[in-house]
This record gives sequence, structure tokens and C-alpha cells, in this order.
Amino acid sequence: MTTNALITGWGMYVPSRVMTNDDLAKIVDTSDEWIVSRTGIHERRIAADDETTTTLSVNASRDALAVAGVEPGEVDLIVLGTCSPDYPLPATSTTVARDLGATNAAAFDLQAACSGFVYAMATANAFVRSGMYRNVLVIGVEVLSRFMNWKDRNTCVLFGDGAGAVLVQASDRPGGMSGFHLFADGTGFEGIIVPAGGSACPATPQTVADGLHTVHMAGRDVYKYATRQLAESALAAVRDAGLTMDDIDQFVFHQANLRIIENVAKQLDMPMEKTYINIEKYGNTSAASVPMALVEAVAAGRIKPGDQVLMVAFGAGFTAAAAVVEWTADPARAFLAPGSQTRLGRPQRQLEEAAV
Ligand code: ACO
Repeated sequence: MTTNALITGWGMYVPSRVMTNDDLAKIVDTSDEWIVSRTGIHERRIAADDETTTTLSVNASRDALAVAGVEPGEVDLIVLGTCSPDYPLPATSTTVARDLGATNAAAFDLQAACSGFVYAMATANAFVRSGMYRNVLVIGVEVLSRFMNWKDRNTCVLFGDGAGAVLVQASDRPGGMSGFHLFADGTGFEGIIVPAGGSACPATPQTVADGLHTVHMAGRDVYKYATRQLAESALAAVRDAGLTMDDIDQFVFHQANLRIIENVAKQLDMPMEKTYINIEKYGNTSAASVPMALVEAVAAGRIKPGDQVLMVAFGAGFTAAAAVVEWTADPARAFLAPGSQTRLGRPQRQLEEAAV
């Protein structure tokens, strides 16, 4: 009998602090008009001082487990996609396992920048289909605000913090993940880079003074790469699933830039009404962007059982990844799950905080 890899739980978390474009215009030479017209971003979330990549992950993961009805102790593996870990060493997935109480789980981080969540989904699929694990928690999370140069308008206006998580479970039922395309081209490694702090350029007082521990980006090169590669990866994953673009019911793209998504939609003849967009609220949350868009699309009733969902991302490296998933879970589970904090894509605890 075939073992399929189904998404049975989902959750997201964003910090409550909102930073608007007007807030940014007070610290760098930019404007709301420039940022909205070039990127589609209106605001982004910024982690509080006591929040970390671990705490964001734990909040999103608790919801994913509650929706699936799975206890932390039943999780076999945690795969956490991020490029803004708590520490270079150890892996953030291990502190997430600790704080979740996932005492029986193996855990590792996966670094494929903004493509990290989709890479992690492919990894979970392989572990589940091979029969090695039954319950894999997949997290996409970033606290990139800690890796920004807040004097560099080329980068600091683009990124935001957040986390999304899904539980991937082994099942005899049909559906789940069916097609993938994973891609990497290291010749583009300087396109988006944190130049210092690794073995190539260890930390010194000078690297700190020169701002080399923050994200540097060649925006136009990344734009050109993204518009070409997203379309190619999308088509390759759909082919791998044995489908055509007409079979896709919902497109969940990495929310890096609205213009990039619109450009790719045109190339692929992909109707914008089937393309979930939330970049205006969160900016580019890197590895968290695809799972956060997925969670919100489900909550908004845009994804129903039987729908074919295409997730596509690109990122530093350069990397890219695409995955096709046949959605099988009842979206109402997110509203009924005891303890679930995710309501209509807006974490309940924030609604409660706002009400106080
Ligand atoms: N406010 C005002 N002006 C700005 C800002 C800003 N925040 N940032 C740049 N500019 C200026 C530039 O200095 C430039 O001025 P100049 O013409 O005098 O030199 C002008 O605006 C135009 O700059 P461009 O780079 O041509 O602007 P473009 O239309 O290409 O948009 C952008 C820039 C939004 C960065 C775009 O290139 C882009 O989205 N690239 C992809 C970035 C991306 O997706 N990165 C995430 C990768 S994912 C990951 O793995 C981390």
C-alpha cells in the first residue's frame, strides 16, 4: 500500500509590532509611495526584544499540532527552514523541540533562504514516503529584522518577521504532496548575502564596524533571476505531479515582491484571483512567507479539500523550489481545534491582546 504525505495541521504566528512604510521613512530616505509602487508592501511585523526565531516557531507549531490533533511527544522529526537562526550553533529546531516538548523528535535546520520551507516540505515528503517517519513538523521562520542594516534603504524596507508551520503525516488516504522541483545555482551566491560571520570571513571588530553581518542584496539581479526561475520551477513541479497549469486551483508564491508575482503570473497564464497575496501586510518574510500565505489562504476559504495547490519560492544562493500538494484537510479544523490560536490568519492571542 502507498504511503502518502498529507498536510494535517497548520499554523502561523507574527509579532504584534507593526512597522509601516511611514515609520521607515523616518529612519531612511524612502517613502510609502516608492515602497508600495516597487514592491506592494505597506507594512511588516517586527519581533519584540524578547521574541526569537525559536519563540515564533513554537507559537506557529503549537497551532499546527492542535489543528492536527497530535501531541508534541508524537512528532518524529522537526525540519526548520530559516536563514535567521537564534545562533549559528546549535540548530534552532533543537530549541523549538525543547520548548514544544517534542521529546521524541529528531531535529535539524535547513538553509535554503526563502526557498527553505518548500525545500523542507520535500524533505518531509521523502522521510514520510520512505516509511522512516510518520509525523514531521515543517517550519518556515525568520527574524530577519535582526540581520538588517537599518541605514540601507535597499534592503530594510523589504523584509519582515514571522513563522508558519505544517504537520506532514503519513497516511494511506490519497492526496498530499505529489510533485516537486528543487533548484540551486551557486554562481549567484553574492546576489543576497550576509558577507561576514562564517568561515569565509570570520567576525572581527572591523566586520562589525563595516556592517558585514547584515543582509546585502543586488536587487536588480535578484529580480531578473526570480522572474525567470519561478516560472521554470513552477512548470517543472506541475509536470512532476503529472498535471498541467490548468489543474492548479491555488498558487501560493513566495511573497518577495508583488511585481515579481504579477510578472510570473503573466508568463504562466496564471489568473491573479487564484494567487494568494498577503505581502502588503508582512513584507518578505523569507522562509516563513509560503507557509504564512498557505495558512491565510486556507483560513480565507481559498483552499478546499480536493484542490491542487502549487507553492513556489526563490531565494539566496540562488535557490528555488516548487511543490504541488493536493489539499485534503477540512479547513474548519483550524477553528475547532482546542487551543488553536490561528483564526482567519490572525493569531487569536493578538485579537485578545488588542481587546485588552
Ligand atoms: N526608497 C527610495 N528609493 C530607493 C529605495 C527605497 N527604499 N531603494 C532603492 N531606491 C532607489 C535606488 O537607489 C535607485 O536610485 P538611482 O536610480 O538613483 O540609483 C532607484 O531607487 C531604483 O532602484 P532599482 O534597484 O532600479 O529599483 P527596482 O525597481 O529594481 O526595485 C527592488 C528595487 C524592489 C529591490 C527590486 O529590484 C526587487 O524586488 N528585487 C528583488 C529583491 C528580492 O526579492 N529579494 C529577496 C530575495 S529572497 C531571500 O532569499 C532573502
